[in-house]
Amino acid sequence: MANEEILHLSSFDDESLNAAFAALEQRARADAAALDGPESMEAFRLRWTGRKQGRLNDVSGWLKAAPPQAKKSVGERFKSLKDLVEGLLDAAASSGPTDAAPAAEAIDITLPGTQRLVGAEHPITKTLHEIVSVFAALGYSVGVGPEVETDYYNFESMNFPPGHPARDTQDTLVIANQEKRSLRDRLLLRTHTSPVQMRTMERQPPPVRIVIPGKVHRNDAADATHSPIFHQVEGLCVDTNITFSDLKGTLDHAMKALFGSAVKTRFFPSFFPFTEPSADVQISCIFCGGKGCRKCKQSGWIELLGCGMVDPAVFAFAAEKQPAYDPRKISGFAFGMGVERIAMMKYGISEIGQFYAGDMRFLGQFV
Ligand code: DAH
Repeated sequence: MANEEILHLSSFDDESLNAAFAALEQRARADAAALDGPESMEAFRLRWTGRKQGRLNDVSGWLKAAPPQAKKSVGERFKSLKDLVEGLLDAAASSGPTDAAPAAEAIDITLPGTQRLVGAEHPITKTLHEIVSVFAALGYSVGVGPEVETDYYNFESMNFPPGHPARDTQDTLVIANQEKRSLRDRLLLRTHTSPVQMRTMERQPPPVRIVIPGKVHRNDAADATHSPIFHQVEGLCVDTNITFSDLKGTLDHAMKALFGSAVKTRFFPSFFPFTEPSADVQISCIFCGGKGCRKCKQSGWIELLGCGMVDPAVFAFAAEKQPAYDPRKISGFAFGMGVERIAMMKYGISEIGQFYAGDMRFLGQFV
């Protein structure tokens, strides 16, 4: 077909424009389909996009010739013809001489689509939120504190005096070159979330009901149930007439909310410097229902968290900034639990390292 034939334009009405451009498009596609090597591609390029004799150049002459009211529709059609020709050239260049079909025809609609994974909460974050929401429903607010903590907040104000042997149970990383600072101001990675109890009391007078989730650090060798970095949720309740029965009732409710209403709790005497008396909370084994199995070492009980009545010595430290923490007028309880431990129980996970390995086969189970 001669150039003149396909470049013939009888008038500028829509019908004529449609016919003329359709013929050109059809011609371009047919030309492209016949491409069989670099030489024919170069000829195609010259024939369609050549500066002087190229068909696009000829067609652009229509733009000038068109009456003002038709310029827009000629322009739009010209643009899409130009895009088509360029697309055909690109497709031919990228698919090689044997497969010069337009890209649109190369899409195989029977192929499966691209699946985009939606993010989900990590099981630790999920468990942490679950614990926090149990207490939020009881009217507790949520607090946070720094992970790099001073010796004063992490130890001294929690009633671990300098040199006290209880400090040895919570060894941690200490920031270097702080010899010039007094011991109480030296920085370390906090070993528990308990220091945020003191930070909270210094900021607000009683009553206080707060839970504090966060990351903590210890010099513990990693094994199936220990990690040098893990998470805790701390709790603190201070008011007038808070008793050990309030502590028992609150934690019994929380354990039932987390593990199911069939779960029983019992409180075992323990020791923490910042509570007196102190207790370990055990729950009836959720694996055997309390009959005794390997998981509970045949005892029927599993130890889950620490708690106790806030030691008057701790209130005395708080009273330095907030005199209302007078142990003769107020009382309170505190508790602290390990998030990993609770998540491992809830989901039946036996290796703590699974939480940190970033293996999608593991994490994908919690979506
Ligand atoms: N801070 C303790 C620990 O890391 C946990 C704990 C026990 C926190 C008793 C408390 C508590 O607030 O009353 O082992």
